[in-house]
Amino acid sequence: MGPTAVLLTNMGGPKTLDDVHDFLHNLFSDRDIMKLPLQKYMAQYIAKTRTPSIQEQYAEIGGGSPILEWTQKQGEAMEKLLDKISPETAPHKHYIAFRYVQPSTDVALEQMKADKVERAVVFTQYPQYSCSTTGSSLNELQRGIKRAGLENLSWSIIDRWSGHPGFIDAVAGRIEAKLKEYPEAERDQAIILFSAHSLPMSVVNRGDPYPGEVANTVHRVMERLNIKNPFRLVWQSQVGPQPWLGPQTSDAIKGYGKAGKKNLLLVPIAFTTDHIETLYELDLEYGKEAEECGVTGFKRAESLNDDPTFVRAMADIVKEHLDSNEKVSSLWYLRCPSCSFDSCGTTRDFFKQ
Ligand code: FES
Repeated sequence: MGPTAVLLTNMGGPKTLDDVHDFLHNLFSDRDIMKLPLQKYMAQYIAKTRTPSIQEQYAEIGGGSPILEWTQKQGEAMEKLLDKISPETAPHKHYIAFRYVQPSTDVALEQMKADKVERAVVFTQYPQYSCSTTGSSLNELQRGIKRAGLENLSWSIIDRWSGHPGFIDAVAGRIEAKLKEYPEAERDQAIILFSAHSLPMSVVNRGDPYPGEVANTVHRVMERLNIKNPFRLVWQSQVGPQPWLGPQTSDAIKGYGKAGKKNLLLVPIAFTTDHIETLYELDLEYGKEAEECGVTGFKRAESLNDDPTFVRAMADIVKEHLDSNEKVSSLWYLRCPSCSFDSCGTTRDFFKQ
């Protein structure tokens, strides 16, 4: 019998500058998250026109996304811990399925097949559920399982964990460490800006659970920190002319700068590893904007990456899931009130079996 598989799913990011085009092309071809007119051609057009500017951004952070490297480190550390805390389901082995770059879902499933896996836990690497991230990965997984003929494996899903105490501890630890860098007299007045990737308002109004789940994480982190610092939840990475969920992180920085606030601590709250949205957008782009508007105490809490508290949380989340015998959370079966994607229904039917 093969290992207990823990399949870490994420959108992924281009590892090299040469991967940027395909990443964008795959993203804009994803009909589980957007339906564009003449999508095949639109995706080609958007990928081609946006590739040079996105490549420049990746060049500024060292030539590619570190997400694969960090996910591998997290996975290796998690499987070792799992072998210790859950000997009855050992050995454990992590696999990685990225939605838009390699290793893809198909690659991960072939590895699992070669390892003769019989029990597989799908573990989304997005703490807060969105149909645009975890939902899309699960739809692709369902199709991939059929392509690979792995329907008979015992599948179960960890689809969200926005309030898991270990995760909350890990984020709180990163904030506490960064707050210490402020002079003591100013520390408790530093404004904490929790920054999460935004969503188009069309997705929010469809009933996507993500904004509420991000707010849940923020609330629990502040409760756990038990400090009086003022804080706000803000949203980053808006693209295109459509309305997106706000306030935008960039506008919040400028607004507070204008209001004379000097100390802003940015906290990435919806990603668990460094990637372009932290290393380029938060650090370089917003860092520069902060400087220009007089925010002299601009800091960013470190991403969780291979933080031992976080890796322990990952192992605990999987252990608790294995012990629960739950196939997927009951929340997942409830589709968005205005969902019009057939794939969302097909995926739910598939994992119900
Ligand atoms: Fe949310 Fe389909 S878009 S369940």
